[in-house]
Parts: sequence; C-alpha cells; structure tokens
Amino acid sequence: MFDITNSVIAITGASSGIGAATARLLATRGARVVLGARRTERLQSLVDEIRARGGNANAVALDVTQRDDVEAFIAHAAGLHGRIDVLVNNAGVMPLSRLEALRVDEWERTLDVNVKGVLYGIAACLPRMKAQGRGHIVNVASIGAHRSYPGAAVYCASKFAVWAISEALRLEHLGGELRVTTVSPGTTESELSDHITDAAAAAAMKQFRAVTIDAAAIARAIVYALEQPSDVSVSEVIVRPTRSPD
Ligand SMILES: NC(=O)c1ccc[n+]([C@@H]2O[C@H](COP(=O)([O-])OP(=O)(O)OC[C@H]3O[C@@H](n4cnc5c(N)ncnc54)[C@H](OP(=O)(O)O)[C@@H]3O)[C@@H](O)[C@H]2O)c1
Repeated sequence: MFDITNSVIAITGASSGIGAATARLLATRGARVVLGARRTERLQSLVDEIRARGGNANAVALDVTQRDDVEAFIAHAAGLHGRIDVLVNNAGVMPLSRLEALRVDEWERTLDVNVKGVLYGIAACLPRMKAQGRGHIVNVASIGAHRSYPGAAVYCASKFAVWAISEALRLEHLGGELRVTTVSPGTTESELSDHITDAAAAAAMKQFRAVTIDAAAIARAIVYALEQPSDVSVSEVIVRPTRSPD
C-alpha cells in the first residue's frame, strides 16, 4: 500500500468544501499538506487548525488561472519537503446559466479555472514526478463529466475536458511512474453554488442540490485511490448521494 504518512500532497482550492475536507483527512493520516487558494485567510485558519491537532500543513496564495502561480505553488511544496508525491487538482468554479444568457465572461472564467488550472497543475508536477520516478495526480471532475445538463453547458464541457485530460495522461504513463485518478463527485455540500450570478440557474440549483453528501465523502474516495499498492490504478471514482440520481 502507498503510505500516506509523511507524503507530500499539494491541494488546489483548499480554502473550502472538498479541498478543505481533503486537507483535513490527509493531515489526520499524517500527510504533509500544502494548501493553495486565493482566500489566504481561510487557508491560514485551516493550517492553524491542522497544526493545532499535530498535523503538518502550509498555505500558499494561489490563483490557478496564472501558470506562474501554479508553478510557484508546486515549487514551494517541493522546496519545503524535498519532493511532491501527490497533486489534488481540485480548484473549480460553477457559475451556471443557460447559453442564451451569454455570460461569456463566466464561460471564460470556468474554462480558465477548471481546465487551464488543471493543465497548469499537471505542467508543474509532471517533470518533478518523472524525475522522482513516482507521483500521483488526482483531478476532481464531476458527474458533469459524464452527462450534460441544461444551464450547465460550459461547466460540463470543462469537466468533460478534465476527464479527457486525465484519461490521456494515464495512458501516456503506463510505465508506472505516474498514477492518475479522476474523482467525480455528485452533489456535495460546499460553497460551489453560492457564486452563481444567474437568478434562474441559482433557483434551479437549489432544487438540484436538495440532497447532498458531506465533502468528507469525496476526501475518503481520494484517500482510497492514493493508498492502493503501486501496481493498482484507481483511474476513476464516482461518488454521489444514495438518495439522488446525481
Ligand atoms: N460540490 C459539488 O457538488 C461538486 C460536484 C462535482 C464536482 N465538484 C468539484 O469539486 C471541486 C471543489 O469544489 P467544491 O464543491 O469544494 O466548491 P467550493 O467550496 O466552492 O470550493 C472551490 C475551491 O476552488 C477554489 N478556487 C476557485 N477559483 C480559484 C482560482 N482561480 N485559483 C485557486 N483556487 C480557486 C476556491 O478557493 P478561493 O475562492 O479561495 O480561491 C475554493 O477553495 C471543484 O472542481 C468542483 O467543480 C463539486
């Protein structure tokens, strides 16, 4: 089994929701977590909480739409601990609206964060993981990577892209030095839908998200994928509420 204890794990979008829950669980399991997001005060209070419980955590200001930021984030993690074992590419946004609303700025932001952010994370980690001879990249996609919904065209497109990128990355590295996992959550408790600006989409989301699971459920799926023996690749996990189709 891969030993999570002392492993160096960078998590993007760790200031709330799934990223924060993953940081908490991995720190409890003894990982050295390096947390990135834009809201640094939220990151710092999570770092303080983890350290108060005896865990090892550090925070870095990170905007995943900036390639230099992502490179600096991974360089910081590797510089602190001498290597980078795992990247959890988790940062994401979901400003939903129907296409006819023409919220083109939000389309661009969705693709910048959800797709380019993931690619920048891969670009920062791949050379380091190849040089180390091992590494694991976990990309957080969505049930929206498997089907598309009205009002979620661009979000689903971004998550289809994350799925496609992950699968090609996995197939490009069958030699064993890199493992790749796509984690696709269903409706999960977080702040994701708080930032929807379109009134109709926000109302529809309230109904869609009537049943959610705790973000810790997604964190447990990530831990499951990480701790498998090196010859086992958990290439995808879909985790959704029992009582919801999504
Ligand atoms: N919750 C669900 O139902 C659900 C379902 C399927 C997939 N997902 C996916 O799960 C992932 C985590 O989302 P969540 O549900 O936990 O929502 P959340 O609570 O809103 O968390 C999103 C995280 O992404 C970060 N983020 C957003 N833009 C960023 C940027 N430009 N640079 C760096 N970090 C950025 C946010 O931090 P800052 O704002 O501080 O930067 C925050 O930490 C996302 O990829 C989302 O698409 C969630």
